[in-house]
Amino acid sequence: MNNKKVTILDIRQAKAEGRKLAMVTAYDYPFGLLADQAEVDMVLVGDSLGMVVMGLNGTVQVTMEDMIHHIKAVMRGCKGPLVVGDMPFMSYNTSIREAIHNAGRLMKEGGCDAIKLEGGVDFAPTIEAIVKAGIPVQGHIGLTPQTASALGGFKMQGKDAAAAKQIIDDARSLQKAGVFSIVLEAVPAPLGKLVSEAVDVAIIGIGAGPDVDGQVLVTHDMLGLFDKFVPKFVKQYTQIRTIILDAMKAYKKDVQEAAFPGPEHSFKMSEETLAQLKKMIE
Ligand code: KIV
Repeated sequence: MNNKKVTILDIRQAKAEGRKLAMVTAYDYPFGLLADQAEVDMVLVGDSLGMVVMGLNGTVQVTMEDMIHHIKAVMRGCKGPLVVGDMPFMSYNTSIREAIHNAGRLMKEGGCDAIKLEGGVDFAPTIEAIVKAGIPVQGHIGLTPQTASALGGFKMQGKDAAAAKQIIDDARSLQKAGVFSIVLEAVPAPLGKLVSEAVDVAIIGIGAGPDVDGQVLVTHDMLGLFDKFVPKFVKQYTQIRTIILDAMKAYKKDVQEAAFPGPEHSFKMSEETLAQLKKMIE
């Protein structure tokens, strides 16, 4: 268990000292606990839960209630890392007032330490207002999955110089708005480096190359638990899906062949009690 709580200040300090930050996603108590025991710096309760946990095709249908439910579960296991709750689609897009209200709900009802929302320059005023309300905000620029269809699908962003410059402008405006950190998704590695150099807040890359201030991966991708689609930027550290599947198949076989439960998994009854019982039911 990680006893020391990671704070916003620690994230800012890591950037200043050039110490790389590790972030993973979690959606429930066991994975919150595992992330805690792995002593990662930050945990994201991402709206990617729509795909990897709820079986949806994207993140758009994920609701505030879904997010709060999963954040609460993660918080029960995750004590050390800084936990960031993702603002779902349309929870911050209609008005600044609504955005502050919903960011507050994730913190008060979910219990997370900070919130994340997607968007660049256009969302700077919203972010500024949420930060002013006392809620730490992590930005998310580059490929923004909630608006992936408007960006032409789950594709690399910042391909030409103008698009790349826009991403640097986005990072600068988010920094000005008060974010403590920014997730930068699916951009060319040299652009990742330039974005990291352009701002003083930690840039957490996911498909943004090695020269940023930290990395985040969707845990279910990294562990080989979700294999519907594996993005190029994912490193699979294990194939846990195969391990689980083999175990379930072995269990099914044991049950069918009456090899489980064995004596070591069964409760005993004395011969005397058994004899008495048999008499009583004769
Ligand atoms: O929802 C999520 O898991 C994310 C990551 C892709 C950064 O936003």
